[in-house]
Amino acid sequence: MKSMVIGGIILIVALMTGTYFMAGDSFALGEDYINDLTMLAGVAIVSITVFVSLKYVNQIKNDTATGELADETWDGIGEYKNNIPVGWGMLFIATLVWQLWYFFVGYPTSQFSQIGQYNEETLEYNAKFESKWANITEQELAGMGQSVFLVQCAPCHGVDGEGIQGKAHNLTKRISVEQVKDVINNGSAAIGPNPAGNLGFGMGMMPGKDGLINVNTGMPISDSEVEAVANYVANGMKGAGAGADIFAGVCSSCHGVDGKGMGGMSPNLVEYDDTLVINVLKHGKKGMIGAMPNFEGRLTETQDKAVATYLRSIGE
Ligand code: HEC
Ligand code: HEC
Repeated sequence: MKSMVIGGIILIVALMTGTYFMAGDSFALGEDYINDLTMLAGVAIVSITVFVSLKYVNQIKNDTATGELADETWDGIGEYKNNIPVGWGMLFIATLVWQLWYFFVGYPTSQFSQIGQYNEETLEYNAKFESKWANITEQELAGMGQSVFLVQCAPCHGVDGEGIQGKAHNLTKRISVEQVKDVINNGSAAIGPNPAGNLGFGMGMMPGKDGLINVNTGMPISDSEVEAVANYVANGMKGAGAGADIFAGVCSSCHGVDGKGMGGMSPNLVEYDDTLVINVLKHGKKGMIGAMPNFEGRLTETQDKAVATYLRSIGE
């Protein structure tokens, strides 16, 4: 036994010396108490491990078994009649009880769905989110919108919303001259039905100039009129002049005299109002530049409005 203890101490010293050589610099005593504690813990772990092992090695070497042997022997190897250890027995019974509970009460077969749980928790969280922000201010909306935008929209529209050199819509400007011309020539049926009613955007805008009659002249809109009206619209519908007259004569019947879409009958051409943005988020949009995926189910109502508010705030 004595020689084993001495061997154990030598082993501890050897292990600690090894540790010191490997990571000695971080154990400059007194510099950082966390390092001192780690070193102490190291000594403790090594010592306990060595001495517990020694105890069992010693027991294997010297202990003799006592007790009543069972009748059976297997090639001369017998078995003692020992009672089941109490702790083990209790644990065994507890596992049985727990198993019955798990099977019949906790998670009955075919009763639990991970997706269901996810959905329930999402609904619950969304409800909490909506009630928390029930009286959200304009400023909070813009802030929330910005953070949603940076995560969800910036990958395509750019961090500053400028559309990454034409890869996606430039959102700092409601509409470009090219886009208006494209819609007049090729039509648009992309924004999808207006949530406010069946009259809405769902009708789309027919392709071609022929259907766009200027009520002032009684003639379909001409190329030069398209040019003028496109510039007027892309310029935020500011000022009077030819463009304004053509808009009033051709476009206002659907888009309203002010271009704001007459309560959701057609898209607002002046700014990103909630109706338009919510529509684009709900249905996505295919157009001149490409396709924008929809965000249906990925943002809450408040987040949709927040993004719309943010887009208005970065507009020119
Ligand atoms: C008959 C009704 C009607 C008339 C007239 C009309 N529009 Fe439209 N316009 C719509 C509708 C509806 C949409 C939405 C289509 C969709 O779902 O994409 C639309 C879409 C647009 C868009 C695309 C908006 C966007 O965000 O993509 C532009 C630009 C536009 N119109 C400009 C004009 C101009 C300029 C005129 C006049 C020359 C005009 N429209 C005349 C009904 C009309
Ligand atoms: C995968 C790329 C992509 C992502 C992500 C994306 N967009 Fe778009 N978005 C586009 C493209 C492309 C267009 C232009 C479609 C077209 O050709 O008219 C567009 C157009 C738009 C328009 C203009 C619609 C119109 O007719 O005037 C709005 C508004 C818009 N996106 C808002 C958003 C918002 C808000 C987000 C984030 C929640 C977002 N987008 C995320 C690609 C994307």
